[in-house]
Amino acid sequence: MPDRLKGKVAIVSGAGSRGPGVGNGKAAAVLFAREGARVLCVDQFLDRAEETCALIRAENGNASTLQADVTRAADCERMVATALERYGRLDVLHNNVGIESRKNLMEVTEEEWDRVMAVDLKSMLLTCQAAIPRLVEASGGSIINVSSVAALRAHGRTAYSAAKAGVIGLTISLAGQLAKDRIRVNAIAPGMVYTPMVAEGMSAELRERRRLAALIQDEGTAWDVGWAAVYLASDESRWVTGQVLVVDGGVSITTR
Ligand SMILES: NC(=O)c1ccc[n+]([C@@H]2O[C@H](COP(=O)([O-])OP(=O)(O)OC[C@H]3O[C@@H](n4cnc5c(N)ncnc54)[C@H](O)[C@@H]3O)[C@@H](O)[C@H]2O)c1
Repeated sequence: MPDRLKGKVAIVSGAGSRGPGVGNGKAAAVLFAREGARVLCVDQFLDRAEETCALIRAENGNASTLQADVTRAADCERMVATALERYGRLDVLHNNVGIESRKNLMEVTEEEWDRVMAVDLKSMLLTCQAAIPRLVEASGGSIINVSSVAALRAHGRTAYSAAKAGVIGLTISLAGQLAKDRIRVNAIAPGMVYTPMVAEGMSAELRERRRLAALIQDEGTAWDVGWAAVYLASDESRWVTGQVLVVDGGVSITTR
């Protein structure tokens, strides 16, 4: 059995997927468990977390579920308390939750802006506020925040791009504040990976265009993003903090 995360306890938020297939949170949870971590699979829909947990248990991995809405501070506190009660420690907080908004500047409503900011950005502040005192007590840990290449390129997705750029700012700010406590904070910026989040209503033609947009013209999957999370969760990245690991097949460095 691989053991890059042996002995570690990880929380994965948004550990389910909104539809059939494998999203980024589900892939990260499965890979964390394959690498020996005990994983608390958190989702606002319990059945989604249970699906991921069942996949892990089918491979003899160690995981359990929790229903929680990470836009609520009390739920975030309960999430961290549950990990400690069940597993006795916490090493990794994988902040994967995010929702999309495709509206451009003039289309996006104030309500949609507020919702995206709450789910994609404020949730990460709240989970960190709940987890960090415990990580300080434990003398260290790894926090991974899922951003997006939408934060780095000229996307028309106003609220989404802004929230995901905020995730990077939060990551760097926390990395600076927490290095003294041996808590590393990094972000992953996935490119156009094919997951249930984007698959809904996507034509075969658009899917092909997304594949061809990258330098490496293989379709990106949630597993590609999950492996980046394994690295950042593991001690292999012990000297890496405040970074944005872009996982996008090279799309963000193209000149076309
Ligand atoms: N798919 C892509 O191409 C892509 C690209 C860049 C970044 N991302 C990011 O990857 C992350 C995960 O995407 P995914 O494809 O796995 O999405 P997904 O929608 O399939 O899964 C996300 C899960 O989060 C849960 N969730 C949503 N709001 C929640 C809340 N408030 N509290 C608890 N759980 C909540 C949902 O129920 C869902 O099961 C997101 O942050 C997304 O922005 C995705």
